[in-house]
Amino acid sequence: MSSTSEPAATPSAPDLGASSLLDVVPVMPVVLVDRVEDAVPLARALVAGGLPAIELTLRTPVALEAISVIASEVPEIVLGAGTVLDARQADMAVAAGARFLVSPGATPGLLAAMTSTGVPFLPGTATVSEVIAVLESGVTQMKFFPAEAAGGAAYLKSIASPVPAARFCPTGGITAASAPSYLALPNVGCVGGSWLTPSDAIAAGDWDRITALAAAAAALAPAGP
Ligand code: 3PG
Repeated sequence: MSSTSEPAATPSAPDLGASSLLDVVPVMPVVLVDRVEDAVPLARALVAGGLPAIELTLRTPVALEAISVIASEVPEIVLGAGTVLDARQADMAVAAGARFLVSPGATPGLLAAMTSTGVPFLPGTATVSEVIAVLESGVTQMKFFPAEAAGGAAYLKSIASPVPAARFCPTGGITAASAPSYLALPNVGCVGGSWLTPSDAIAAGDWDRITALAAAAAALAPAGP
């Protein structure tokens, strides 16, 4: 050990290269924040549970403000914006501090808008033709949404061989019980879900419960590419 005193290390988020968005955590917490004051303790609870990533959905009036405060106060978390539907939202989310974007669908316009932000993104797909269209745009990582309603793990397993270039973060209706069946697939890097951050736990400020849910999810291991 060095005898010279070193400055305390500033916490920093794991590297988020364009090819690694699906490999940061096995379960991506999909989060709705109704009160901006919940944002920082919620993010810290996820980090404490071993899940240093968050997809904060743009579905509440305070979402952009919540992204901004998490970006400045919890820099060690990989922070993304979800439910991105248009170019304006994509730009505002990145300006607020989002380091990746997630959309429920993928039109040519939305793909172009998210590409132009310069941050990694997961466009939503639910059919083979949509997957191929996203691949044609040069993007190989995508969301599969709504996962359970669109065919679940059986669907993704069926397209792994015919469309091997695509890797997925399935999201929508996934639970702690069903997550392992997705994570066992070769074309799944991580799954997304809101079960880690129940609205009643957020409302009650029960951060220990969220940390415990995160810790259980963090222990799930993807099969790898
Ligand atoms: C999403 O925004 O990706 C989904 O609504 C999350 O799905 P879940 O709430 O069923 O986990």
